Amino acid sequence: MGSKVKVVLVGCGFMGRMHANVYSQLEQAELVAVVDIKPEVGSKFGGDFGVPSYTTLDEALASVECNVVDICLPTWLHKDFTVAAAKAGKNIFCEKPMALNVSECDEMIAACDAAGVRLSIGHCIRFWPEYAKLKEIVVSGSLGKLLSVNLTRYGAFPSWSSDNWLADPEKSGGGALDMHIHDTDFALYLLGTPQKLVSFGTRDQRGVGQIFTTMTFGDQIIHLEGGWNLPRTTPFKHAFRAIFERGAAIMDAGPLTIHEDGKEAVVPEFEKMEAAGGGNISDLGGYFFELKYYVDKLISGEPFEVTTPDSSKESVRVALEEISQVP
Ligand SMILES: NC(=O)c1ccc[n+]([C@@H]2O[C@H](COP(=O)([O-])OP(=O)(O)OC[C@H]3O[C@@H](n4cnc5c(N)ncnc54)[C@H](O)[C@@H]3O)[C@@H](O)[C@H]2O)c1
Repeated sequence: MGSKVKVVLVGCGFMGRMHANVYSQLEQAELVAVVDIKPEVGSKFGGDFGVPSYTTLDEALASVECNVVDICLPTWLHKDFTVAAAKAGKNIFCEKPMALNVSECDEMIAACDAAGVRLSIGHCIRFWPEYAKLKEIVVSGSLGKLLSVNLTRYGAFPSWSSDNWLADPEKSGGGALDMHIHDTDFALYLLGTPQKLVSFGTRDQRGVGQIFTTMTFGDQIIHLEGGWNLPRTTPFKHAFRAIFERGAAIMDAGPLTIHEDGKEAVVPEFEKMEAAGGGNISDLGGYFFELKYYVDKLISGEPFEVTTPDSSKESVRVALEEISQVP
């Protein structure tokens, strides 16, 4: 691998720009080319980052040297591009959700295993500083046993997607697979596979627009609420409230605050980085840390532990189980 990863980024939309901004801040990564099916989109984007643009992955791989393909494409394309990049012998970072169904996830994992390349899926919430802090509190037991968590994520329907692909449930999986999976994945990261799961929700022509799920893990409970069908003027929000035997960790309508019985409440400080990309999140935080982790692990050869292809596949499986319960 050497001391630097060279990245070809595929998909010059909202997430592509977020990733390119991160690579420009990572010393051990270099963006070497971009690919977009729309030549005008690719060449503007390539110009912004000083790299050549191509309209197909094949053309890019034939023209530049790279050891990573970063896939920021609409979800329905994740499987085919991952398999193609693996066959070309490239390591892969692919946006979440991993794919539209479990068998596509299996194909992605098998192709990467067969080619001996490393795959990671962009479950950025596991790396988001406040959420990573919550995981740390759960693992350390510093507030005692975790009793329950509420995870919330909602906003207006994302208006930016190219040719409005997000509105087509055949391409995006709808709001529950596309957006709510962040919290499904985080619930599994905290407590493993749920023993029981009950979901309710509402559907429209774009698939499940709002979903309410309760998961049980023995006597621990996680309640999740997610959706993207609020009015256009509604600001995006993600929030959590975790209750422990001896305290609580709350990020809701304010910064993460840790309450411990008998002590003053504490507001931890996190490094802030501004994103030039816009969209509904104005902070590179989780995106920066997930890609830094990926690059560092590729260079060191150490295994991925925070997120693995199998855990990302499991999140797709559980999110689809939730969706299947919504009539
Ligand atoms: N981690 C997060 O918080 C987060 C947030 C938003 C989106 N996402 C995920 O990122 C992925 C991309 O979403 P987005 O919002 O950036 O979409 P987008 O529509 O903004 O960008 C997709 C880009 O891919 C290009 N494209 C489409 N088909 C192509 C093809 N065959 N070959 C090359 N280029 C092609 C489009 O022209 C467009 O520029 C999705 O899987 C989405 O779920 C993740």
